[in-house]
Amino acid sequence: MTSEQENVYDTSKCRLLRTYDLSEVDKLFLFRFEDPEKAQNFRFKPGQFVEVSLLGLGEVPISICSSARRVGFFELCIRNAGRVTSAIHHLNPGTLVGIRGPYGNGFPMEKFHDRDLLLVAAGLGMAPLRSVFLYALDNRWLFGDITIINSAKYANGLLFQKELEAMKDIATAENISIVQTVTRDPDFDGLHGRVNTHFDKVNVDPENCTVAMCGPPPMYKGMFEECIERGYDPRYIFVTLERKMKCGVGKCGHCNVGTATSWKYICKDGPVFGYYDVLDIPGLI
Ligand SMILES: Cc1cc2nc3c(=O)[nH]c(=O)nc-3n(C[C@H](O)[C@H](O)[C@H](O)COP(=O)(O)OP(=O)(O)OC[C@H]3O[C@@H](n4cnc5c(N)ncnc54)[C@H](O)[C@@H]3O)c2cc1C
Ligand code: FES
Repeated sequence: MTSEQENVYDTSKCRLLRTYDLSEVDKLFLFRFEDPEKAQNFRFKPGQFVEVSLLGLGEVPISICSSARRVGFFELCIRNAGRVTSAIHHLNPGTLVGIRGPYGNGFPMEKFHDRDLLLVAAGLGMAPLRSVFLYALDNRWLFGDITIINSAKYANGLLFQKELEAMKDIATAENISIVQTVTRDPDFDGLHGRVNTHFDKVNVDPENCTVAMCGPPPMYKGMFEECIERGYDPRYIFVTLERKMKCGVGKCGHCNVGTATSWKYICKDGPVFGYYDVLDIPGLI
């Protein structure tokens, strides 16, 4: 590598501006690059992720969950899951962290244009899908009817619940249906049941709709069957996947999935995959 070539492991300093509690274990973090030029030029696609590093502790891949249109800052929704994410949860506004990316393919948003949109999120899956949802809101004229189904086991795990609730009236006026449901919380004063039990509240036309999902793989299997049965076009069904990662850029092989003849790096070829990728590559979900 010559000195002029960019080092893929270089991080840029980012300042934590604000945090916001979303649940007992999830926080929203607002970051801005220290270098004003970098802050102004940073662009990403919904579904892409960044590597967040804390000196001496390590790095974690995290999906960007803000609107790709809002320039100058970005937001991450981070669950306190272990060593590094717990340390991030304890950071105070003003602290500097290292950021590299954005990485991954992201959702092919141009393929989503001029179609209806169905977003299905379970738990943390709402993080990358929030970015897709905000894209659709920012470019409302490029989409037909929109439904978002946000689900969690318990009400306090429904990410962005208040934000979605707050936009419900205006959303209805704009043919956007917002469905929030829980599976294991008898005390929740709202909808109950798995995402597929709420298809009667979906306002999209299956034949002209793009589906984007994020959640645990068992949900994908059930949703694939449900969608195909209901006439959704498999070429327009997308999921975003997770694996333990190291480099995030296709160098270390850590996130490699598949067989000798058919394999992918989740970090570089994904994390977004189409229905047929998932069928063709063993072990993807
Ligand atoms: C592409 C991508 C996007 C992601 N986006 C988000 C996001 O928006 N918000 C968020 O909170 N998290 C996200 N994650 C998961 C996040 O990277 C892990 O929670 C984090 O790496 C855990 O690191 P840690 O050091 O805190 O925990 P560790 O101490 O390393 O592990 C804690 C626990 O989490 C499990 N774990 C670690 N990494 C992963 C992983 N990648 N997938 C599943 N389980 C894991 C471990 O097995 C262990 O049980 C994403 C992961 C990927 C690959
Ligand atoms: S994380 Fe290194 S190849 Fe994907």
